[in-house]
Order: sequence, then C-alpha cells, then structure tokens
Amino acid sequence: MVAPLRIGLAGVGTVGAAVMRLIESQRALLKARTGRGIEVVAVCARKARKKRDVDISRVRFLADPLALATDRGIDVFVELMGGEGDPARAAVAAALAAGRPVVTANKALIARHGTALAATAETNGVALNFEAAVGGAIPIVKTLREGMAGSSYARVYGILNGTCNYILTRMQEEGLSFADCLKDAQRLGYAEANPAFDVDGHDTAQKLAILASIAFGTRVNPDAVYVEGISSIAPQDLDAAAQLGYRIKLLGVAVRTAKGIEQRVHPTMVPRESAIAQVMGVTNAVTIDAEGIERITLVGPGAGGAATAAAVVADIGDIARGLRVAPFGRPTAKLAASRKAPMQRHEGGYYIRLAAVDRPGTFAAIARHLAAQGISLESIVQHRAGERAHGGEDPRSPAAPAPVILITYATTEDAVRRALQAIQRQGVVAGRPQLIRIERD
Ligand code: HSE
Repeated sequence: MVAPLRIGLAGVGTVGAAVMRLIESQRALLKARTGRGIEVVAVCARKARKKRDVDISRVRFLADPLALATDRGIDVFVELMGGEGDPARAAVAAALAAGRPVVTANKALIARHGTALAATAETNGVALNFEAAVGGAIPIVKTLREGMAGSSYARVYGILNGTCNYILTRMQEEGLSFADCLKDAQRLGYAEANPAFDVDGHDTAQKLAILASIAFGTRVNPDAVYVEGISSIAPQDLDAAAQLGYRIKLLGVAVRTAKGIEQRVHPTMVPRESAIAQVMGVTNAVTIDAEGIERITLVGPGAGGAATAAAVVADIGDIARGLRVAPFGRPTAKLAASRKAPMQRHEGGYYIRLAAVDRPGTFAAIARHLAAQGISLESIVQHRAGERAHGGEDPRSPAAPAPVILITYATTEDAVRRALQAIQRQGVVAGRPQLIRIERD
C-alpha cells in the first residue's frame, strides 16, 4: 500500500482552514481519484492558539515556516501565507531546494519570483503548482498549460478580480456609490487586506502576468503590465455604457500583436452580448482566443476560502498522482523576456466622456480636433446640460456642462490623447475627459 502524502501547511487563515476541511471531508474521494491518502500532518501559523474554523490541535505546530518547508516529516509544502517577499519566498525556495514539491495560492509570489522558483523546482525535479493563484476555483492555469497545450493563443483576457467585478456590478445594478460597494466587498471577505490593491488593478495585473507567461511563453513579469484601476469609473459611465450596448468590466488582457505581447489591465467596455459581459458579482471569467478553435470562456468563483481551497487541493492531488509539469508550461530557459507594451501604440475603439461647455461652436471644435487626428466616430450621445445620461433631470447640478459621450472606431491611443489635449486646450470642456478602452470580440 502506498503511504499517505504528508502535507505541511503554512498559513491557517480563511484559505488554509478551508483546505484542511476539504482534505478531511473529501478524504475517500481524493484517495479514490489519486490512488493515495492525503493528510495534513503539520501546520505553521503566526499564532498557535486562535479561534479558527478548523481544529489544528491534532497536527504538529511549527512557528517557523522555513522549518516547516524543510521538515523531513512532510512530503509537500503548501504555502498559504501570501505576500511576494519573505517568509513566503524564502520558505517556498527552501522547500523546492530540499526536494519538496510546493503548492501555493500566492499570486504575488508567483508573479514576482515565479521564473526563479520554477527554475529551482526544475533543478530539483519537483512540482511547483499554483492553480489557486489565478481565478480561484477556475482551472485556468491547467487549461492553458495542459488542457490546450496543442493550441496557439492569440489573446487571453478576463475578469480576474472578484472585488472589482462585485463593485462594478452593484454600482451598475443598484446605483450604489463606489465606497459603499467596496465596504461590502471587504465585509464579505473578497478584498485584499489593502483593498487599493484590488481597485487599482494590481491584483489583476499579477494574475494576468502569470497567465500571459503560460500562454505566450514569456518570463512572468508584473512590471510588464500596463495598469489602470476602476476608481475613476462614475455611475454615469456605467449608465452610458448600458445605453450604448456595452458593460464596463475591469479586464486583464494579454494579446499577441505585431509589436509583441501586450499585457494590460484597465476598465474596459465590452459588448453587452459577449460572454464576459454576462459575468456579474464576485465571479471571475477568462476567455481564450486560440487559433483554429472557437472562443472558450471559463466562468467561476474567483475569491473566497472554498473556491481557492478547491484549486489548492486539486494541485495537491496532482502531486499525489505523481504528476509534474513545467510550472509555466515549458522549461524556464526557453521562456522569453517580456517587455511593457507602449500603450500610446495601443489600437482599438474608445469611449470618451466630455463635460462640454454649453455654447455655440463647442461641438464643432470637438469634431475638428478628432478629425485632425483621423479619428472616426461610431456613436455620439449628447445630453442637455443638467440631464442625466439615463434620462431625467439631475436635481443636483442644473447648470452643469452638457455631457457628451463619443464612441470611436478603431484608432490609436496616441491619436485619442492628442485630440483630447487639443480639445482641453481650447477650453470647450470642463474637467478631465473620461477615457475607457473598448475590447471587441
Ligand atoms: N482580492 C481578490 C479578488 C481575491 O477580489 O479577486 C482573490 O485573489
């Protein structure tokens, strides 16, 4: 009989406790599927005694993650502490160097040090599995790396942050403020300890960097991602988008272009009928455009203890089965450097919202500056000053400038920015224009 696989678990927070419960409740199923028992034999946490949703009194307790990582009594080191630096980095590196396979849910660690850690795993002939780092329970890492290993990817894009999608959904559906929605996301345990990390797009960028590396064979590098968050999105943008047949999502997009792999995170208008536009609330989704096959979209829970634990336990199951693949889908020596795509050369359609000064000649000036940059318009919506985009009078600002919404055909970011600068210089708009990129199918 094969001896059970002994797990050392570092971090017994929401995810760690959920992993322990899942291993316990699915004991027989996991054994039937992997051919081997799986047991948590030791844990490491900041505090031994703390109110937890799981009983850790029957397993060994270590205070030092590094000691657990290299402990001879474990077969697999599971890192659920989080954070891109030490102790997570040092503990994972030590476990791999000691020939222990590692499972981690730590997106920050993998985004920042993934290539180096994968090289250590390779040298020592052990697995480094991180399915839970991206998209919670959605098996997107395995899908790109193994399930579609025969496909050439053109574009991978998705909703990779539950907090942002939850906020945008509630703002759109209930007309709530950004701040109230964020508070609820924190209360429900979706947001990071520092929610700026979610709403400013950095969480999405780390996850995108990991997916881009697997899809396009580049060294994982979060600094190669252009990042913009959702805090500038106003209820009137969500209204206007709906009116024009779009929804606004925070997307991470990795796309092959003639100039290289472009990686970007920003609020994005997506056609209302697209699969990604249907994804609401804390749910995540990733769409894969691969050559020669119809588009595939995977949708599922992207945050929370149970969703993340499902992916962690599946990764442990792979090790129990004796599976080991190159963490980024090819040997690290074959991964190419990744460079930050210059966004001024980005090509696509744009949503522009201007607060136009209500006087003759304003529209002519706007049109002239757009034409001067060769920008062609697909839609124009102008409301009377003081009128809301979705109809009705705005009681708060009867004398406000008139909102003008423009949707452009494909153009370059450089052209749009030049046109907007010229329009602002001419004094025909108030405040800063709002600019949202459009991602088409
Ligand atoms: N804060 C993250 C989110 C948790 O909102 O998606 C999962 O990485």
